[in-house]
Amino acid sequence: MVSWFSKLVVASTVRMPKWFVKWVSRRYVAGSELSDAVRIMQRLSKENACFTVDVLGEEISSMEEAQYFYDEYVRVTNAIIEHNLDANLSIKPTAFGLLIDSEKGFQNIKNLVEMASKHDIFVRLDMEDHRVTQDTIQVVIDLHSQGLTNVGTVLQGRLFRTLEDIDNLESQLGPMADYRICKGIYLEPEEISFTTYSDIVSATNSCIDKMLSAGAYCAIASHDVPVIKHAKSALKSFGMGPNIDDPRANAGDKRNAKGNGYEFQMLLGVRGPMRRKLAAEGHRTRVYIPYGAKWYEYSIRRLKENPTVGAQVAKAFLMPWTNRP
Ligand code: FDA
Repeated sequence: MVSWFSKLVVASTVRMPKWFVKWVSRRYVAGSELSDAVRIMQRLSKENACFTVDVLGEEISSMEEAQYFYDEYVRVTNAIIEHNLDANLSIKPTAFGLLIDSEKGFQNIKNLVEMASKHDIFVRLDMEDHRVTQDTIQVVIDLHSQGLTNVGTVLQGRLFRTLEDIDNLESQLGPMADYRICKGIYLEPEEISFTTYSDIVSATNSCIDKMLSAGAYCAIASHDVPVIKHAKSALKSFGMGPNIDDPRANAGDKRNAKGNGYEFQMLLGVRGPMRRKLAAEGHRTRVYIPYGAKWYEYSIRRLKENPTVGAQVAKAFLMPWTNRP
């Protein structure tokens, strides 16, 4: 349920002048240029973080627009190599055309994953709303079946289907399954998703347990204390943790390449002290770095999609002690 306060924040924010939205979003968006993202990553490297880079923008209206994203991600890959950054790519399948022309969209994604694989760079398919859940999962399965294993997707704890998706992906990808698990930012219909905070937390935690017990690589993407606490205790019960090679027998051959089999992920600008604490404890922590010319459209769209984000941003702004960058 979305509170009246969240709705109020969204209604006010979309009426704010662009400079004000830019000022607030400065904290959550690296900037409009790739060089802004590189600068932020160089700074946060000193906090022992690694990164995943997101070129802002998503659903497109013509296949020509997909070329912009492909070209920009090639630039990102080159920058990662040039600046020796510990970073991978996060892409939105619809920005590559998946909803307009599924075959061409697939080919665009494949071209990028192929190019990234030559440099040992991992590509994460962000998960968008339920219209593309199945197609996004299928892209990952198809790419793996064509020998491209440097790719994985995101699953959303709030969706009823997710536990079954994990089973399905496990049966197709085995130990090469590599997930980001998050609550899910899209407010999905109640016919297909949990809608209360406690149900979403508990469903997300069950997904973490299932991924870990399946031997998968598990990137826990949350800033929420009950999820992080649960993840830490689940990791402990599997004998996993900082500086320990993945001990799960079913993690397969990928153990060496995948180190300790898990990581924590957080968004740029959100709960920095918590991330730094996890890093200080020795956990791998990855920061999601969005940048791009479309920062304004992205910020407004995210707010409209999920008004609780507006309330969190307002809380961070008005009560900075609750959430430092
Ligand atoms: P919750 O929303 O309860 O937040 C816990 C606390 O963190 C809040 O009380 C607040 O203090 C702080 N906080 C969280 N988000 C904030 C924000 N935006 N601004 C300010 N403070 C904030 N979703 C999706 O559907 N598909 C995807 O591909 C991804 N990818 C992704 C990558 C990464 C690295 C992260 C961290 C998250 C995603 N998400 C996502 C978003 C995710 O599904 C979820 O909506 C947010 O992480 C918020 O949920 P939390 O678990 O952080 O809890």
